Amino acid sequence: MKIAVGNDHAAVQLKQVLLVHLHELGVEADNLGVDTEESVDYPDCARRVARAVAAGDADLGLLICGTGIGMSMAANKVPGVRAALCCLEYHARMAREHNHANVCCLGARVTGDELAKAIVSEFVRTPVSDDERHLRRVRKIDALDAECGRP
Ligand code: RB5
Repeated sequence: MKIAVGNDHAAVQLKQVLLVHLHELGVEADNLGVDTEESVDYPDCARRVARAVAAGDADLGLLICGTGIGMSMAANKVPGVRAALCCLEYHARMAREHNHANVCCLGARVTGDELAKAIVSEFVRTPVSDDERHLRRVRKIDALDAECGRP
């Protein structure tokens, strides 16, 4: 499994912690984020990761900013991306099982290192559910792209 990882200046330290954690989990990580605390714009980071996931260059994405909110808003603009802001392990599990999320967003200013590691573990190990009701609902999410004129 390969995961594209992106972060802004608010999340350099947590990104480094999570890169080590992903390595320990045996997950290949592609670091598309920044490694200095010089201020950058989170939509630029979200775009790189979301486009990689949508193109199939990565199986999943992980985006980290101060709150996780801006990253999730930007990533969800890319057709084919279902980004979920996860503050709890339960969010990560449900985001995968029920919502078929393919990008996990975290807030480095609100989520501590150990909880973030647990959330990422849950996200990468939880398969999507093939239950028909979840498939139907996810198809309805994806249909909004076409309905709004996005290919
Ligand atoms: C940067 O100050 C901050 O706005 C960003 O990291 C993120 O929290 C945006 O949603």
